[in-house]
Amino acid sequence: APDIPLSSVKAHLSQFQTIATNNGGNRAHGRPGYRAALDYVKGKLDAVGYQTQVLQFTSNGATGYNLIADWPGGDANQVLMAGGHLDSVSSGPGINDNGSGSAALLQIALTVAEEDLAPQKHLRFGWWGAEELGLVGSNNYVNGLSSTERAKIKAYLNFDMIGSPNPAYFVYSASGAPSGSQALQELLQTGFRDRGVEPDLTALGGRSDHAAFARAGIPVGGTFSGAEGTKTAAQAQKWGGTAGQAYDRCYHSSCDTTSNINDTSLDRHTDVAAYAIYTLAGTGQQTD
Ligand code: PHE
Ligand code: CA
Ligand code: ZN
Ligand code: ZN
Ligand code: ZN
Repeated sequence: APDIPLSSVKAHLSQFQTIATNNGGNRAHGRPGYRAALDYVKGKLDAVGYQTQVLQFTSNGATGYNLIADWPGGDANQVLMAGGHLDSVSSGPGINDNGSGSAALLQIALTVAEEDLAPQKHLRFGWWGAEELGLVGSNNYVNGLSSTERAKIKAYLNFDMIGSPNPAYFVYSASGAPSGSQALQELLQTGFRDRGVEPDLTALGGRSDHAAFARAGIPVGGTFSGAEGTKTAAQAQKWGGTAGQAYDRCYHSSCDTTSNINDTSLDRHTDVAAYAIYTLAGTGQQTD
């Protein structure tokens, strides 16, 4: 699996920051900054050969959008999906929450294209709208699939907050969601251990966009660098950072800017995401 360059992921975060700054300070559902961020991601994907779809829904009286990007090829009956939410809260630009996961997924998708990857499974990425209004976009997507289409999705990986300034290295626990998967948990744990990090498990329940997939019986997994929770002494010992302080003191605040990112966390979580996506998709890389 590729080592995704941190600088490329951070370049996307800078673009999300600029988009927010130019659109009233946020990328929130129903605001112009959301659509501008979606157009940025879509433009990058269209340029390298993804088949993209903008799926509309209505929430709270405003139009919302999910962006779905399919990489052509692979077994159409075996879909591997990875996603994260692209909207921010209205109080800030949402660079860690969830510019970080959105940018990582974008750069992984661009790397797949750059490598002309021909995975065994069909690979699909999703950027969800209106997560911050209650997981609206991802619920809308899963509920809109026919049972046949739903059954083709063999796994869903979620990335929501992966660059927290006082970071955690959490893997979604197989027992923490209705459809948590032991295999996905172990794969993501292996990804961190291969990079010299011993992750902790976190029981997420229904706090992010994996929830709709889990309820539909699709195996789910993901990684997370922490939000309003407090880093323990044991975590500071093994991961560095500051015990007794929040993983992200700017969670849902105006200070969730490009300054609110720990580079090491963003780099490691992104590389683990790429490792899991490549492994699960079954990648026979072309040699041309
Ligand atoms: N979904 C939460 C948010 O966007 C953040 C979160 C992610 C919390 C993962 C717990 C686990 O605000
Ligand atoms: Ca990297
Ligand atoms: Zn949030
Ligand atoms: Zn989030
Ligand atoms: Zn080629």
